[in-house]
Amino acid sequence: MAVTTHPKLDAHRLRADFPVFDELVNGRPVAYLDSASSTQKPRPVLDAMRDFYEHSYANVHRGVYRLAERATAGYETARGKVAALVNAPSEREVIFTRGATEGLNLVAYAWGLDNLGPGDVVVVTELEHHSSFVPWQYVAGRTGAAFRAIPIDEQGELQLEALDEIEREGTVKVVANNLVSNTLGTINPVEKLAAWAHERGAIMVVDAAQAAPHRSLDVQALGCDFLAISSHKMCGPSGAGALWGRRELLEEMSPFNLGGEMIRSVSLSETTWNELPYKFEAGTPAIAEAVGFGAAVDYISEIGLDAIERHEHELVELALARLGELPWIDLYGPPPDRRAGIVSFNVHGVHPHDVAQVLDWEGVAVRAGHHCTQPLMTKLGVAATTRASFYLYSIPEEIDRLVDGLHKAKNSLG
Ligand SMILES: Cc1ncc(COP(=O)(O)O)c(C=O)c1O
Repeated sequence: MAVTTHPKLDAHRLRADFPVFDELVNGRPVAYLDSASSTQKPRPVLDAMRDFYEHSYANVHRGVYRLAERATAGYETARGKVAALVNAPSEREVIFTRGATEGLNLVAYAWGLDNLGPGDVVVVTELEHHSSFVPWQYVAGRTGAAFRAIPIDEQGELQLEALDEIEREGTVKVVANNLVSNTLGTINPVEKLAAWAHERGAIMVVDAAQAAPHRSLDVQALGCDFLAISSHKMCGPSGAGALWGRRELLEEMSPFNLGGEMIRSVSLSETTWNELPYKFEAGTPAIAEAVGFGAAVDYISEIGLDAIERHEHELVELALARLGELPWIDLYGPPPDRRAGIVSFNVHGVHPHDVAQVLDWEGVAVRAGHHCTQPLMTKLGVAATTRASFYLYSIPEEIDRLVDGLHKAKNSLG
């Protein structure tokens, strides 16, 4: 039988690509365990943006001169890279946005306001980031549609049985869910949800902000209708992201932002819309950021998303095992085989912000708070958690430093 070997990534070697790891915090290199919030940037991304500004910068789509052509080519090449990353059937279905939040708002406003009304139901989950929760709650409120959340069980996994009761409340029109939870790391069954949504004539909107950096994505295999991603969570610059949408839906939808670039013709009596994707890209876009986003897609693709996923899986297994040995820690979320590289926990008797503060003294950067998931915090019965999250440059030594720091926090404050 043929044995398949999967190349492992070498995180120690990759760290050399990231200038930030030369920084010292209290005399030690930073143990950056906050990648779910935003990732660090490698030299190829920084170089691509600097090079673009130095040699190819102009506004896009408008000029006939050489620099404008180069700028447009850089911007559109980046779109092609993003389209390939998510296996979009067409580049025209990829809209550049300012981030995942803007992509999800675009769908809620441009699709939701025209297609929802009394008697309809919008379904989200208790695990949603506010970016996938609040726009739908707001648009449901504006249109008179009901807004319901699929509950989670004790392990932080969706209780799909609840769908039977939810659908009795009206016509399900939207199911919106993150592929990976930013707080618990839960990997959600969006293929199943998409099939369920389509059987009822509803659309499936996927928030893949936490999935795209860590695993390969295929919008066609997921069977969704919209999928939003974020550049800054996958080694790219902030201020850039992308929304993929099914062409028929995007064609039918009203625009989201209005202004330059998104029009075909304007007169006193009527304005008509540009073709896809420009209909949804009003104004001057984040051009160099798109180029940096494209460079980030190249960077992580070259390392290999499968290798990144396996690396994070090893780290999350290690972290859960080490933290699980400490009786004064509460851990939240599913077992490692059903979660991405994110670990949320609380130290008995110590507020998460104090835990994060003590860890910072040790040069360990983690996040404390509600992680933009207040409904989830309510469900867990806590105001906040401390969260450590890993990426391709994270190393086991950083988990040792996390555990040492937690002992200090417990001993000094607990
Ligand atoms: C699951 C999830 N969705 C959406 C967002 C928002 O992404 P962006 O910062 O690109 O707007 C985040 C960021 O934390 C997230 O983790």
